[in-house]
Amino acid sequence: MASPITPTITIVVARAINGVIGRDNQLPWHIPGDLKRFKSLTMGSAMIMGRKTFDSLPGLLPGRRHIVMTRDIDWKVDGVEVAHDVGSALALAGETPVSVIGGAAIFALFEPLADRIELTEVLAEVEGDVTMPDLRSSERWREVAHEDNQAAGETPAWRTITLVRR
Ligand SMILES: NC(=O)c1ccc[n+]([C@@H]2O[C@H](COP(=O)([O-])OP(=O)(O)OC[C@H]3O[C@@H](n4cnc5c(N)ncnc54)[C@H](OP(=O)(O)O)[C@@H]3O)[C@@H](O)[C@H]2O)c1
Repeated sequence: MASPITPTITIVVARAINGVIGRDNQLPWHIPGDLKRFKSLTMGSAMIMGRKTFDSLPGLLPGRRHIVMTRDIDWKVDGVEVAHDVGSALALAGETPVSVIGGAAIFALFEPLADRIELTEVLAEVEGDVTMPDLRSSERWREVAHEDNQAAGETPAWRTITLVRR
């Protein structure tokens, strides 16, 4: 019997050099180039996210599926698929490539399963209330590409880094 097709699971995350990824349920920076990158990386995928990250979005993002993880069995929003555990989130995604888009708890849940990490490193110390570890320090990941972007006006310098599982 043929084995089921498992979709690629990609973590898409932006992290400051001090580990911060969020403040007051928002991104603590505005980097237009990274928003474009996020759009192109996630387009066509099934995005898996925590309920707080969903609340932080301006609305449904066109061209992508939204799978929201919550422990609240009554939570529902039109246009959103709801999952209460990792297995059911992946079952909902089916054969659609998966982008895991945060926040911290959801990154931790999916890191053992992910094939790839698209990391944006914001090259600044940033104040915030949500942090995540530097996954590059794990032996599980190997850097295969990076690109530097200069600071411009209010926008800090930032680096994009692609990691694949060893
Ligand atoms: N820099 C980045 O790349 C990035 C990406 C995403 C988000 N962020 C930022 O991070 C912050 C939000 O992240 P966060 O870590 O606070 O929250 P989050 O991970 O987005 O959402 C947490 C919620 O997810 C649900 N959840 C968590 N673990 C679960 C599990 N095992 N099973 C079922 N549901 C589970 C719970 O929802 P219920 O409470 O409804 O049960 C929990 O309260 C914001 O500031 C946001 O802007 C940054």
